[in-house]
Amino acid sequence: MAAPATSHQSNPLITPYKMGTFNLSHRVVLAPLTRQRSYNNVPQPHAVLYYSQRASNGGLIIAEATGVSDTAQGYPDTPGIWTKEQVEAWKPIVDAVHAKGAVFFCQIWHVGRVSNSDYQPNGQAPVSSTDKPLTPQIRSNGIDKVHFTPPRRLRTDEIPHIVKDFRLAARNAIEAGFDGVEIHGAHGYMLEQFMKDQVNDRTDEYGGSLENRCRFPLEVVEAVVNEIGSDRVGIRLSPFAEYAECGDSNPKQLGLYMVNALNKYGILYCHMVEPRMKTFAQKIECPDSLVPMRKAFNGTFIAAGGYEREDGMKAIAENRADLVAFGRWFLANPDLPKRFALDAPLNKYNRETFYTSHPVLGYTDYPFLDEDSNGVAS
Ligand SMILES: Cc1cc2nc3c(=O)[nH]c(=O)nc-3n(C[C@H](O)[C@H](O)[C@H](O)COP(=O)(O)O)c2cc1C
Repeated sequence: MAAPATSHQSNPLITPYKMGTFNLSHRVVLAPLTRQRSYNNVPQPHAVLYYSQRASNGGLIIAEATGVSDTAQGYPDTPGIWTKEQVEAWKPIVDAVHAKGAVFFCQIWHVGRVSNSDYQPNGQAPVSSTDKPLTPQIRSNGIDKVHFTPPRRLRTDEIPHIVKDFRLAARNAIEAGFDGVEIHGAHGYMLEQFMKDQVNDRTDEYGGSLENRCRFPLEVVEAVVNEIGSDRVGIRLSPFAEYAECGDSNPKQLGLYMVNALNKYGILYCHMVEPRMKTFAQKIECPDSLVPMRKAFNGTFIAAGGYEREDGMKAIAENRADLVAFGRWFLANPDLPKRFALDAPLNKYNRETFYTSHPVLGYTDYPFLDEDSNGVAS
């Protein structure tokens, strides 16, 4: 008898994939999702339940953006990985994810100018590629409006210090037990503030030509690769996005330049945000495509942004991606791979609780298909 349309066999998202040395059992990746529940930048015990709920045997999950230093934060209570206390706090969370058989990468992050002096040591100005200020922005919950302090342009001789912060954060992530790191090179944060010509107005070797603008992000990649090995390094890029007033005049050229340069380092994966996500978490019609970058990149290619079950299946079937990352659907459906396998209905996400600081609400209280399991026993 022919397999039913919704069986594992006919769903390309629920097929195995070998990513470097990692044997994945399906293609449904947890996208990095900032949750603002790591009080004083220290991961909390409640994150054990949150991440283990979303971990599945052979699944890849990516931790929320995690600061590389005390100047890296721009929001309340986001986790860090630059102190011993933070590394120790991550350990039980990573252990719980591994106990469920999942692969766990830590997204390492510096916000650059997307910050204000409240989050900076001694109330100083945030640092960036530029001193151009950022106007207030609405967050991805569509509700909160955030204000920024005009940034201070990094001097050329300070840039190696930020590179070093990423290197040490990567080392700390491995010390905490993570399988690897995803360098956050997307969404208008520090690396993009160098990459994109709408923001980068430098006149030193880190500004001007495309090669110069990509120098700092590639120095970060090189340092992290040298520290932990290319087989543990991924990067997230969003060349087409214009978050936080960070756009580029030629995003396709930027994306292609980056993936070709990344090939030289042999990194494990490139995680790219779809052009349709030009503004944060809002899908628009768009003629651009990630396919040229997918074709040019030699490693694993993860696509993200606005995916549903059907177009995720199609992206894999048409070889436009090796893996698909899901953000909001995975936030609201801790057992998303199982629901996709069964073509089961999905819980709706609640934007109002994306960034609340409660340890349960809008975090670990979304129901499972099988309510009894609570995801702890699979
Ligand atoms: C609450 C929330 C937090 C997010 N935090 C991060 C983050 O920490 N790092 C990141 O690269 N993207 C972050 N994103 C973007 C998501 O990873 C994802 O790219 C975006 O939600 C679009 O995918 P989706 O349509 O599957 O939700 C966040 C999105 C949301 C809604």
